Amino acid sequence: MESLKHLEWRYAVKRYNQKAVLTTEQVDLLLESIRLTPTSLGLQSFKVWVLGPDSPHREAMKPILNNQPQSIEASHLFIFAAQIQVGEDDLQQHAQRMATTRNQDIRELDKFVQGVGAYLKNLSEAERLTWAHKQTYIALGMAMAEAARAGIDTTPMEGFKNDELDAYFKLNEQGYASSIILAAGHRDSDNDFLANLKKVRKSNDLMFEFL
Ligand SMILES: Cc1cc2nc3c(=O)[nH]c(=O)nc-3n(C[C@H](O)[C@H](O)[C@H](O)COP(=O)(O)O)c2cc1C
Repeated sequence: MESLKHLEWRYAVKRYNQKAVLTTEQVDLLLESIRLTPTSLGLQSFKVWVLGPDSPHREAMKPILNNQPQSIEASHLFIFAAQIQVGEDDLQQHAQRMATTRNQDIRELDKFVQGVGAYLKNLSEAERLTWAHKQTYIALGMAMAEAARAGIDTTPMEGFKNDELDAYFKLNEQGYASSIILAAGHRDSDNDFLANLKKVRKSNDLMFEFL
């Protein structure tokens, strides 16, 4: 139950204290929670671009994030981008990682590789991209939960111009399409109107059905 207190404590912070920069350890914690996130077939079909407070790109993020104050005030911005084309190469690399990590003969993974390969081939390009985008949201959730546990504030952000962000960082050329942004830092309770508001959530009877 202790962990629920952290989830109560967190909220989607609107105003950050710009002076409260995350430590390297705090950033590493978020990165590791993202890296450890479970993903479909284990393929980790996304990548994250990290912008710290000194990044030369921060000013450019403001209009792209529709002038939301977090774009400038949050200590860090994590840009989650889905892999556009998950294919045979990714699968082979994953199998190689599995074999190396688990000290296995890669031939033992033939069945797995064939099965996953067939599954991916069955999906259309658009379906594969949607599938990849979904993975980023799982990582986002894991990072937010871990952040809350560690007393780090966050904001999940879909309110940005995907096309402009992709163009700015040439993400498509690198094989990625932006998905979601996570702002992180420490709240400015004095200036954030959301800081002391109660959480608004549906009641259990509206949310859950026990069958
Ligand atoms: C996928 C997603 C996208 C969101 N996009 C934004 C955003 O662009 N800007 C913002 O200030 N809040 C954004 N939010 C925050 C939600 O408005 C907020 O999580 C929701 O109202 C519940 O409030 P709480 O997180 O403070 O408990 C987003 C949340 C999610 C999950």
